[in-house]
Amino acid sequence: MSQSRPPVINYEGSDYQQSFWEQGNRLYEDQVEAVALRRLLPTAGRLLLEIGAGAGRNTPRYAGFERVVLLDYSLTQLLQAAQRLGRTSRYTYVAADAYRLPFVDGLFDAATMIRTLHHMADPLLSLRQTRRVLQPGGTFILEYANKQNVKAILRYLLRRQSWSPFSPEAVEFAELNFDFHPRAVRDWLAQAGFGLERSLTVSHFRVGLLKRIVPLRLLVGMDALAQLTGDWWQLSPSVFTRSRAAGETPQAAAEAFFCCPMCRHAPLTEQPEALACSGCGRVWAMREGIYDFRNPI
Ligand SMILES: C[S@@+](CC[C@H](N)C(=O)[O-])C[C@H]1O[C@@H](n2cnc3c(N)ncnc32)[C@H](O)[C@@H]1O
Repeated sequence: MSQSRPPVINYEGSDYQQSFWEQGNRLYEDQVEAVALRRLLPTAGRLLLEIGAGAGRNTPRYAGFERVVLLDYSLTQLLQAAQRLGRTSRYTYVAADAYRLPFVDGLFDAATMIRTLHHMADPLLSLRQTRRVLQPGGTFILEYANKQNVKAILRYLLRRQSWSPFSPEAVEFAELNFDFHPRAVRDWLAQAGFGLERSLTVSHFRVGLLKRIVPLRLLVGMDALAQLTGDWWQLSPSVFTRSRAAGETPQAAAEAFFCCPMCRHAPLTEQPEALACSGCGRVWAMREGIYDFRNPI
């Protein structure tokens, strides 16, 4: 595997969960995402991978799964998640790069990536990695930020915005923050080996004035209805998709789990507070109960 990789955004030490969600007046956005997840998630499952789990805001919503692996590049986000969710055998915390997942092929029966693809400079690479670690037929729930939303279209038509919301290329509105075109995401999903089953458009009423004057329950109910048009057109700022892992790819052996993210060797050898790779000699630390696959010791 190549040593180079796309840049990764830094959430180390960030208070994203508090500042963006808890103090940021985003109850509406959080609740409409919960509605979309309820609609798309399988009701039960064995092992789910949450990519870009952050502080675990969505993790309790995966209650139908026996076990959840929370993966994030930021150790401090995972520490916050562990504090919120607890250190039970139900949760495994893994600090790693979505471009280099440290799991054997065909391990998970489901994966989610919510509010994370929009940080990917190479979205196709992260989707290919996700597909690799899913069993054939596994479920993948992906949320992405949609450049072709009503606000961007109006701004473009009124000449307040230079980039076209209709063209397929990504728009990087801040460093390592991208909005994508639905057509581009659909193409990447197909190229990565996914069959798209359903799209829900989400957060149609993400407008400060509406959030102030319309009661929360009503606004969430209106969005829940509008979400159902997602297979026909996508004009909302956020889109949730459910895809299925296509093709006859390997399924992990019962005891297999981690592999070396650099050389893909498995199994790794357990050492005190570390996992060692006998393939390339790298050793990966365990820090504060979190497997750390970002840089070898
Ligand atoms: C906007 S937060 C979303 C957190 C959570 N999914 C939510 O919706 O509340 C994005 C998260 O993705 C993580 N992330 C971004 N790029 C990543 C990468 N290449 N590998 C692993 N995690 C990444 C960040 O560290 C951050 O915690």
